[in-house]
Amino acid sequence: MVDYGPMQAELRELALKKDAIIIAHNYQRPEVQDAADFVGDSLELSRMAAGTDAKIILFCGVHFMAETAHILSPDKKVLIAEIKAGCPMADMISAADVARLRDEHPGALVVAYVNTSAAVKAETDICCTSANAAKVVSKIPEDREIIFIPDRNLGLYVEKMTGRRLIMWEGYCPTHEYITAEDVLGSKKEHPAALVVGHPECLPEVQNIADAIESTSGMLRYCKASDAKEFIIATEMGLNYRLKKENPDKEFYSPTKKAICPNMKMTTLSKAIKTLREDRYEIRLPEDIRARALAAVEAMVSYI
Ligand code: 13P
Ligand code: SF4
Repeated sequence: MVDYGPMQAELRELALKKDAIIIAHNYQRPEVQDAADFVGDSLELSRMAAGTDAKIILFCGVHFMAETAHILSPDKKVLIAEIKAGCPMADMISAADVARLRDEHPGALVVAYVNTSAAVKAETDICCTSANAAKVVSKIPEDREIIFIPDRNLGLYVEKMTGRRLIMWEGYCPTHEYITAEDVLGSKKEHPAALVVGHPECLPEVQNIADAIESTSGMLRYCKASDAKEFIIATEMGLNYRLKKENPDKEFYSPTKKAICPNMKMTTLSKAIKTLREDRYEIRLPEDIRARALAAVEAMVSYI
């Protein structure tokens, strides 16, 4: 087994010397999570980025997350540990697509999942994350049409939770769509006592057989609070590391080995060290885009 201790210590020392905070998403590699100051879901990471006093934010996650950190903390230097780590779902919609949707549905409010580029956020009215999407939509006046982008699975979940009709974009997360209902039912056959906990990016047929649908950190809270001892986790496999670490007496199963986000796994300790040492891969946006994207992110905060 690889001993990551020396590299983790090197990264921590560097962070201390440079007044940097290391924040990592729940899907990051275990050794990266263990070296971070804070690990969380998209909403928690945004809050962390907005509240930190550190000079540098070293972001271990995907591009849109680091952009959100910059949108919220423009005076900090935001570095992304691996510049090539994008989100295929975020790439499924462009700012021009949003403008076209607006033309087709004048008067509709545009709600954007945070898994979008800053340029797309700048064209939208309100952001949401997997942790608050239903809450955000439920606060919108009944007579307003709503365009929901880009994740149709999250959109369908929100429709179910709120009873609202959404005009939807056909985006999806390839990693979550690898998880099939047959995978989950097969896993359930092997572990009949296990509860099924899924992410709202899962296909509707997977959501329908889940005992709970939560954001990644919501899944952590749910499993911790539950009396059950076994769980089938329908999301990216990286979450299982933290689940097991925080609940050593419980068992967590992935319904399929395919549920891996290659982009989340691009970040390694050695890349994070190199990025911080060289101050490379800084995320900066044109100020007009940042300011307009900020308005959508702030609208989210005011809605919940
Ligand atoms: P969470 O906000 O639930 O962590 O989800 C982010 C994500 O990209 C899921 O695929
Ligand atoms: Fe994007 Fe899916 Fe990876 Fe999340 S798991 S970052 S939605 S590709």
